[in-house]
Order: sequence, then C-alpha cells, then structure tokens
Amino acid sequence: LITPVILSGGSGTRLWPLSTNEKPKQFLNLTGAQSMFQLTLERCSQKGLFTDPIIVGSERHADIAEEQMAEIGVSPQNLILEPCARNTAPAIALAALACTNPQAAMLVMPSDHVIENVPAFQTAVQQSLSLAIARWLVTFGIAPTGPETGYGYIEQGDEIAGSACSFAAKKFVEKPNADNATKMLAKGGFHWNAGIFLFRADSYLQALEKHSPEMLAAAKQAMSNGVSKSSRIYPDEQSFANAPSDSIDYAIMEKAEKVAVTPVSPGWSDVGSWDSLFEISPKDSASNAVSGRVQALESHQNLIHSDGIDVHAYGVDDLIIVAKGNQVMILPRGQSQHVKQISENAKKPD
Ligand code: GDD
Ligand code: MG
Repeated sequence: LITPVILSGGSGTRLWPLSTNEKPKQFLNLTGAQSMFQLTLERCSQKGLFTDPIIVGSERHADIAEEQMAEIGVSPQNLILEPCARNTAPAIALAALACTNPQAAMLVMPSDHVIENVPAFQTAVQQSLSLAIARWLVTFGIAPTGPETGYGYIEQGDEIAGSACSFAAKKFVEKPNADNATKMLAKGGFHWNAGIFLFRADSYLQALEKHSPEMLAAAKQAMSNGVSKSSRIYPDEQSFANAPSDSIDYAIMEKAEKVAVTPVSPGWSDVGSWDSLFEISPKDSASNAVSGRVQALESHQNLIHSDGIDVHAYGVDDLIIVAKGNQVMILPRGQSQHVKQISENAKKPD
C-alpha cells in the first residue's frame, strides 16, 4: 500500500484577493464544488492501493483541513501541523519520519493541482511503484507546452529496464530562467515536473542525510520534541525553525542520483495563477469565465469573479476582474504574475 502525503502548507498569494493567508487557494472551491485539497484527497482514496493519508500543513489551518476532510469522509493517519513554514523539503521530512514503516512508499502530492483523468494518473503511480521500492525517487513528467519558468524541468535519459514506461532522469532543473527554459525546449527530451513524487520514506531520508543533513537533524528533533494529540502532530517550533527553508526540488531532486521520470498525460494543470485558472475554467458563449454575481455584455475572454458585490462589465476584453469584500482587482489577462506584487502593496482591509 502507498501512503499519500498531501502538502497543503502553501500560502497561494498568486491567487489574491481570493486566496489569503487565512484561507489559501487549496481550501477554496475554485474549480468546482470541492476544494483542490478535497480533490487531491479523493485522488488517492482508492482502498487497496492507498493507506489513509498523512497531511502536512500549517498549524493555523488545522480546523479548516479537518472540516474539509470530514466533509468527504476522510480520516487522516496523521495531520502534521507546522508551527512555521520551511518549504516543502522539511515538510516532506516530517511526513517521512511519521511513517511507522520506513520502507513505506510515499506518494507526495501538492494540493493545488487539477488532474482531469484520475485513472490515468493512478495507473502511472501503480506502474512506478516497483521503482520506488527499488529505491528510485520517482517523478512524473508532463509534456511541456511552452517555456514556463515556474516549473521544474526533467531531462529524460535511458529507459529503466523492467519498468512499464519510466526513464532515468539525466538532469533536474528547478525553475529555469526564460532563456534556459527556451533552450531546453529547443533541445527536446525534457518534461515538466508535475510536483508529485513517489519514493520510500527511507530513500528520502537517506537523500536528505546526504544533501542536507542539518535539515534532517532539525526535522528529527522537531518530531521527537513534538506533541501528538490523537491524529494531530505538533512538531516542536524551536527545533523546526532551525530547518533551512528549501523546496524538495532544489534541496534534493536537483542533486540526487537515482531519479526516475514516468511520463504522464492525465490532464494536469497547476492552478498557480489567475491566468492558469482562466485556461481551465468553463467559458460562456463569449469565452468569458465568470463566477458569482457577474453581468458581462459585449465582453470577451475575461475572467470575472465576484464573491459578493454585483460586477457589470460592458465592452471589455481579455481582463481579469476579481472582487472580494471591499477589494477589486483588475488587470489584463496574461499579466497575472504581477498579482503577488499587487497583494503585497494592497492596504490591508479594515
Ligand atoms: N506543508 C507544507 N509546508 N506545504 C507547502 C509548503 C510548506 O512550507 N510550501 C509549499 N507547500 C505546498 C503547496 O501548498 C503546494 O501544494 C506544494 O507544496 C508545492 O509548493 P509550491 O510552492 O506550489 O511549488 P511550485 O508550484 O512553485 O513548484 C513545484 O511544483 C511545480 C508543479 O506545480 C515544484 O515541484 C516544481 O518543480 C513543479 O514543476
Ligand atoms: Mg504550485
């Protein structure tokens, strides 16, 4: 059985003003009736393949995470509540240390993705399990559609003998600059990293020991000095604060030797920005993605969302308009990389 590990500690600032520190994007119903956190849990709830999940997220979201799990009848093996955010590498270390069986295969999943074809995804996971057991760190490769700079890139090497369809990774490059991304695409043979990983808990801890021993030490100390209350685990704050803040991609995947990639095409999208949300949202007959109390006349290809007030648009094209409480954000489509800057400069609501 595979142990799902759900990472839900991101702050999701690129989807401000909807996504906030109090309720980040993974807990919002942005893509349908369920939150992306709930959709992620359902993706790995197949009995006979998965154990109950381990969730790693911020202490401040404990209640909302439990509420949303209860809504869909999921009871976690553990809910690990980080006292401070140290990025994904330490978060995954806590989960690996919480696994009672060190040889357990962990499926590490971000909680901010959409996957349309869940059976295709599950098949790829199942087909990669023997590699994980043989101590590979397995990544899942998505066919790139452009020189995106927000993803990791994996160069495909030789096919791994005996695998269903997996390859040794020659190189893992996290978040390249635009130049390098363009070069890799021109060269060919690269996949985007889906951000989903399959490996044994002990393989990950061993890689951490090699590439970031101080991170491993801090995570171990945080767990042994931590407190458990039923399924909740509260790692010790002082110890965990000593962990260097780094992502698994930089801390481990760029450096590790035995990295494999299983290509998948399960209709994957990273709902990382308003522009990417627009791409995957259903559209009206004028290609607008609207939700909430919105009227759009003679307007095309806009994303318009309102949580409360009525929004009326006439004769505008290619805009992102998001209204929440007393905040309204308007910007051209294609520029949602600036939302982080807008949110940082925004006056906090009274
Ligand atoms: N528990 C916990 N603690 N979770 C965290 C933390 C943390 O400190 N920081 C981020 N996360 C969660 C986020 O909520 C998200 O679900 C997941 O970990 C990945 O973090 P992101 O911050 O969204 O990573 P990214 O999108 O920039 O990059 C990763 O995903 C890309 C694909 O979407 C990398 O793995 C890239 O290589 C990959 O291409
Ligand atoms: Mg992401």
